[in-house]
Amino acid sequence: MTTTESRDTTTGTRGRTEIGAGINRVDGPLKVAGLAPYVNDFAPDNLCHGALVLSPIAAGRITGIDTAAAEAAPGVIAVLHHLNAPALADTSVKPPPPFQHTQISHRAQYLALVIAETAEQATDATRLVHVDYALTDPLVDPHDPRATPEEDIFGSDTDRGDPDAAFAVAEVVIDAVYTTAENTNNPLGLFATIAWWDGDNVTVRDATQGPAGTSTGLAKIFGLAPAAVRVLAPYLGGGFGAGLRVWPHIVATVMAARIVHRPVSVALTRPQMFTGIGHRPNSVQRLKIGALADGTITAVEHLSTITTAMHDNTFESVTDGTKSGYHFPNLRTRERQIRLNIPSAGAMRAPGEAPGNFALETGIDELAYALDLDPMDVRLRNYANVNPTNGFEWSSKALDECYSRGAELVGWRDRPREVGLLRDDNWRIGYGLAGVSFFWWQPPCTAEVTLRPDGTVLVQAATSDIGTGTYTVMGQLAAELLHVAVSAVTVELGDSAMATAAGAGGSGLTAALGNAVADACRQINERRGKSYAAMDSGQAVTAIGSSKPPDPAEVQLSPSGAFAARFAVVRVDADLGVIKVDRLVSVVDAGRVLNEKTARSQIVGGTVGGIGHALFEEALTDTDTGRVANATLADYLVPVNADVPPLEVEFVGSRDRYNGIGVKGVGEIGLVGVAAAIGNAIFHATGKRLRDIPFSLDRLL
Ligand code: MOS
Repeated sequence: MTTTESRDTTTGTRGRTEIGAGINRVDGPLKVAGLAPYVNDFAPDNLCHGALVLSPIAAGRITGIDTAAAEAAPGVIAVLHHLNAPALADTSVKPPPPFQHTQISHRAQYLALVIAETAEQATDATRLVHVDYALTDPLVDPHDPRATPEEDIFGSDTDRGDPDAAFAVAEVVIDAVYTTAENTNNPLGLFATIAWWDGDNVTVRDATQGPAGTSTGLAKIFGLAPAAVRVLAPYLGGGFGAGLRVWPHIVATVMAARIVHRPVSVALTRPQMFTGIGHRPNSVQRLKIGALADGTITAVEHLSTITTAMHDNTFESVTDGTKSGYHFPNLRTRERQIRLNIPSAGAMRAPGEAPGNFALETGIDELAYALDLDPMDVRLRNYANVNPTNGFEWSSKALDECYSRGAELVGWRDRPREVGLLRDDNWRIGYGLAGVSFFWWQPPCTAEVTLRPDGTVLVQAATSDIGTGTYTVMGQLAAELLHVAVSAVTVELGDSAMATAAGAGGSGLTAALGNAVADACRQINERRGKSYAAMDSGQAVTAIGSSKPPDPAEVQLSPSGAFAARFAVVRVDADLGVIKVDRLVSVVDAGRVLNEKTARSQIVGGTVGGIGHALFEEALTDTDTGRVANATLADYLVPVNADVPPLEVEFVGSRDRYNGIGVKGVGEIGLVGVAAAIGNAIFHATGKRLRDIPFSLDRLL
C-alpha cells in the first residue's frame, strides 16, 4: 500500500469504513478551532498559581532560605520549600521529588514554589525568595577525572560468540568513535499541572502521556490508593517522551494544593522545559566492525557511554539495535553511564535507537566504502533472517522490501558509487542510506467498550492521544469489529479512572490498546450472538477487553517492531559547507496499517525530528556552571520548513503474525536512520566522513 499521496477520505459519510483508510483525525477540528481543552485551558473555581524558584548553582547545599519578603508580596498565599513541605510516603522514586532536603545536585533544581493569586504575582515574588548556599565544585564535564562510568545498570551488556578471535582474522576492521548531542523534547505545549484535593482524594490535570502511570506514581509518592489520585490528560500539546515520567513540578503542584486547600496551577516556562522534563542524553560510542572482503561482517564491538543525572538513572539502550539489527555472529556490547550534576534525562522519541543507529549505520557505510561495495549490498549480506538475540523467526520483517522499494524510488542503483562525482554548479550531491530495525514493545493494557442499543459505541481507556491519532484509529478499529460506522463510535481517553491502559510510549500503544479494544469487541460480539434479546430489550452491552503479549518462546516467534529503509539525497556547498536535504525517502514495514494518513503523519513528523537530530539540535551545557546555555527556542535550533524537503513515505509488508490485530508501532521509527542517511549522503557528496551529530557547518568545513 502506498501513501506517498495520502488519500483524503473523510470519516462518517459512509456506512462502513475499512481499517487502513486514511481518514482524518477525529480530534482535528477541535484542535484547529482551539476547542480541545489543554491543561492550561482549565480554571477551576478559586484557582491559584505557582511559580518555581530554581537553583542557580549546580552542586552544593542550601544553608538558609528567607521567604519573608516573598510572602509579603502582593497576592502571595504561601511559599513551599524544604522546611515546610508536607512529608511524602515514598521519596525513593526517580526522578527525586522536590523539597526533600538541602542538597542541590543540578542547576535549575526546584528549591521553592511561590503560590499566589495570579501567575504574574507568583513569578514576581520568586525573585524575593532569598536562598543561601554552600557551593561545591560541580561535576558537569564527562571528561572530568572525577567522572566515573557506571557499568550496565540495566543489564544490557551482551556477549555473543568470540569477537576477539573474529577481529584477529578479519580482512578489514573499521574502528571509530561517534558522538551524538544532547537533545531536548520541548513539545510546543508547555507542560502544566493543575491539582486540587477533596479530602484525601486528589485530582490532577497534567500533560502526561500516561494518566494511569502518573496516577500510580503519585499515589506511591503521597501514600494513597491509586483510586484516590485521578489524573486527567485528554489532550496535550506534544510529548515526544517528555510526558512519561512523574516530574518534580507535578509533585510540587500536588503538594501545594494540599497546603493551600485550593486548586493550584503550575505551568513551566520555555527555559524550564529544557531542564524540568528530561532530555535525550548525549552519547559517545566506540564502534568496531570486522569483516571479510565480500562484506560479511564477522565481529562487532559497540561501546556506549551516556551522561545521566546524579540521582537518577537513564534507560537509554544505545546498543539495542546492534544486537538484533543484523546477523552479527560475534558481538560485544557495553553500556555505561556517567553521573553528572545535570538535570534528569528521559525518553525522547526513539531513545537509544536514534543515537545507536547513527553509529551503526554510519559504521556499516564506512565498511562498504572501505571494501568498495555498495552500502545496500553490505546490509543485505548481513541481513538477520531470524532475530539473533533469541533465534526465533521474526513475526514479520519486510526490511528487504524496504531497501528494494526505496532504492527504486530514489534511483539508488543509477547513482555513481564513487564519491564526489555528482555536481550541480558549486553544489556537491550525494546519496546515503540507512537501515532501521526498531525494537518491539507492547505493555499489558485494558479497554472498556460499550455498545448501546441505538448502535452507538463508546471506547474508553486510561491513556493519552499525544497527537498520534489514537482517538481516530481506535474508533476505526471498534467500528470495523462491531460493524458500525466510524461516526457511531466515540473514543474517550485521558482519565486514569477509565480502564487501566498503557501509556503512549515506546511505539507500543496501538498494539497494546488495539488488542484490548479488539478483545472487548470480540466479547461484545459473542454476547450479541448469543442473545439478540438483550440488545432488543434496550440494554447496553459493556465489555472490558485486555491484551497481554504472549511469551515468544511459546509461540516460537520473535515479536517484531517496525523496520525501515531511509534514503537521503543531499547537496553540500563546496565553499560554505551549507547542507541541503534534497530528498528523504522512507519505506516502512509497519505491519498492518490501521490508518494510512495518521501513520504517514507519524513518519513525516518523526523524520522532521530526525533532520533536527542530524543537522541542528544540540542542547549545550556550560561545563563551568552546569547551565543549559541555549535554553530558548531561538538559540536551540530545530528544522524550519525551508530545511525540510517534501518527505516521501511508503509502507510495505503485511500484517504481523505475533500481534493479534497485526500492527506494529510507528510513533518513533520516523526519527531513526535519518542522521546516518544524511551523513552517509554527505560522505558520498564530499568524501568527508562526519561522525558527530549535529552536522553543523563548522564540523563540515
Ligand atoms: Mo516515546 S520516547 O516512547 O514518547
